[in-house]
Amino acid sequence: MKFTDSPVIELSVNDTRLSFHQDNGSMHVGTSVWPCSLVLVKFVERWQTPPECAAGENPYADALNFSSKRGIELGTGCGVAAMGLYLLGLRDIVLTDIAPVMPALKHNLKRNKPALKKNLKTSQLYWENEQQLRSLNPPFDYVIATDVVYIEKAVAPLIRAMEGLLADDGVVLLGYQLRSPEAHELFWEMCEEFFQIQKIPHDHLHPEYAYEESDVYLLRKKKNSRNS
Ligand SMILES: C[S@@+](CC[C@H](N)C(=O)[O-])C[C@H]1O[C@@H](n2cnc3c(N)ncnc32)[C@H](O)[C@@H]1O
Repeated sequence: MKFTDSPVIELSVNDTRLSFHQDNGSMHVGTSVWPCSLVLVKFVERWQTPPECAAGENPYADALNFSSKRGIELGTGCGVAAMGLYLLGLRDIVLTDIAPVMPALKHNLKRNKPALKKNLKTSQLYWENEQQLRSLNPPFDYVIATDVVYIEKAVAPLIRAMEGLLADDGVVLLGYQLRSPEAHELFWEMCEEFFQIQKIPHDHLHPEYAYEESDVYLLRKKKNSRNS
């Protein structure tokens, strides 16, 4: 499935159906649902209940063990990834974005309240705002980000936010699609500096949510990264 103009996007997570209202006409990209978010959630769902391997053979068993873990999503938009991962067991999760996107996020949280059965935490966060970052009380076991690399000047603050929020043994769950060659180049150059990068093979994605353009990465802190 590609980016779609449909005002409603649905996503089944195990037996629960999430439904998101998107507004593609707004000037803020966060009011749309972007495919990487769906791809990430369905990748996690697939490997939490892997169809083709025994429990001991699941290569993602440790990375996706959400039990008693804390997570934060950066640039959550309509909240697809965070809501999906909440249903997959990441119970302590905070959804963040810039102020103008908050109404769309809150609308979608309310829309999905019957499925979630809980009010998930939200917080306004601009990646470049050190005070906001500190007030979130890091570290987090998981930093989640999908389709957030598209503006070159936002790359450095994004990487700093990821690095600063993540626990030393934490994992960034990244849904990625190339949007801007300049932002792409800088992002991966800086990622190399701070993180060990694991790209998920396409045949490990959920077969119905494996789009050619969308990738999933697991990033882990390098022991000698500049900020640590
Ligand atoms: C392309 S949208 C992706 C939204 C959502 N993650 C998804 O996959 O559907 C990029 C998101 O990053 C957020 N964003 C961009 N720059 C930001 C910044 N400097 N600080 C915080 N959020 C930012 C936008 O508001 C938007 O919600």
